[in-house]
Amino acid sequence: MPARLEIDGGVPLRGSVRVSAAKNAALPALAASLLTAEPVRLTNVPDLVDVRTMVRLVETLGATIRREHGELAAQVARVTNDVAPYDLVSTMRASVLVLGPLVARHGSARVALPGGCAIGVRPIDQHLKGLARLGAEIAIENGYVVARASRLKAARIATDLVTVTGTENLMMAAALAEGTTVIENAAREPEVVDLATLLTAMGARIRGAGTPRVEIEGVSELAGTSHRIIPDRIEAGTLIVAGAITGGDVTVTDLVPDHLSALMAKLGECGVALEVGPTSVRVRGPGRPRAADVTTSPFPGFPTDMQAQVMTLLGLADGQSRVTETIFENRFMHVAELARMGARIETDGAIAVIRGVSCYQGAPVMASDLRASAALVLAGLAAHGRTTVSRVYHLDRGYEGLETKLTALGARIERRA
Ligand code: EPZ
Repeated sequence: MPARLEIDGGVPLRGSVRVSAAKNAALPALAASLLTAEPVRLTNVPDLVDVRTMVRLVETLGATIRREHGELAAQVARVTNDVAPYDLVSTMRASVLVLGPLVARHGSARVALPGGCAIGVRPIDQHLKGLARLGAEIAIENGYVVARASRLKAARIATDLVTVTGTENLMMAAALAEGTTVIENAAREPEVVDLATLLTAMGARIRGAGTPRVEIEGVSELAGTSHRIIPDRIEAGTLIVAGAITGGDVTVTDLVPDHLSALMAKLGECGVALEVGPTSVRVRGPGRPRAADVTTSPFPGFPTDMQAQVMTLLGLADGQSRVTETIFENRFMHVAELARMGARIETDGAIAVIRGVSCYQGAPVMASDLRASAALVLAGLAAHGRTTVSRVYHLDRGYEGLETKLTALGARIERRA
């Protein structure tokens, strides 16, 4: 039986907890190491399953990776292979982030089409349209994207929708293209900005990262650098909700408050007391949260990656809430499991209507995707009795030692092999 977490709920969490670095910033940063022959040193890299998968992928493409006391140095002196194989890409969609760098640095790439995942189809058509605009020849052969370009040429790209890794792929490709590329409708997530910071330190010329219009003036080559990965705003948000849902008093440190504005505004609406410092947030949970409506949207809107966690809090609210998920078409997988713990949630397409209950009952539940598993852990922390969350490998993809962090705050939570 795969690893599971056993949680005896009802303990108000207390104390201070440090946030790890952002998975969704570490992954593009590792892909960016393909853009130069020099070493790219990354510090504060989280030790996560997805990070290890990306390390393995860039190694198969020619990277030498050295881990030195918490630092990770990646050097791709030469790209020795341009294939991102299906077995790797199918376990982690973010593997598609090697596509842009490979075409820009090496002139060719064969990346397995990622296929769908639990939360949706998640196509990469915007990535491919943008690369074609930059002059790449794109073909789909036997489930692989085959992309070729002698030298990419700058273009004006307007994506049909806001895509985080699409913006990141195109930014990395444009960094080595001839001329100045403009990406309209670009994603504004902090992880996109962090990648632009890294690329700039490597010698790229980027303006407007974090706004819907990003300009990249291509250069002939990029250099190595050192870069510290930003804190994980989703882990921070998850830990803040843990403090709120258990009615505790928790200080979450090493975070960037500006990355959490939409979430904190929503939690304030629910009656959660938040004290915001320069790099920390102190959260004191309400006796019982108030109901509130949530609609997910691209940054700086309410993050889809926090939707399941906040729905879990709203499931205990005094009143009825509506959650509208606008980013992914199937991101309510946690609803059926929460219902098994006593939640009263009706879903209809992209909308979930939650009628708050006074408490959850502990129960055996099953994780389905990364953030749904975090939501089930939160429900278990608040529930009366024991909750067992199975298939916890979903959690390990994006949370570094979550049960250790929660135990340090007083939670009764144990991992069982
Ligand atoms: C990134 O995924 C994150 N992953 C996701 O986090 C996050 O949920 C998502 O952005 C939205 O914020 C990483 O950064 C590694 P999108 P990404 O491209 O880039 C559609 C987690 O929990 N779309 O912004 O794959 C797509 O189907 C993960 O850490 C197209 O139609 O998301 C989705 O509905 C889960 N065509 C929407 O756009 C495309 O070419 C947003 O997707 C690209 C995307």
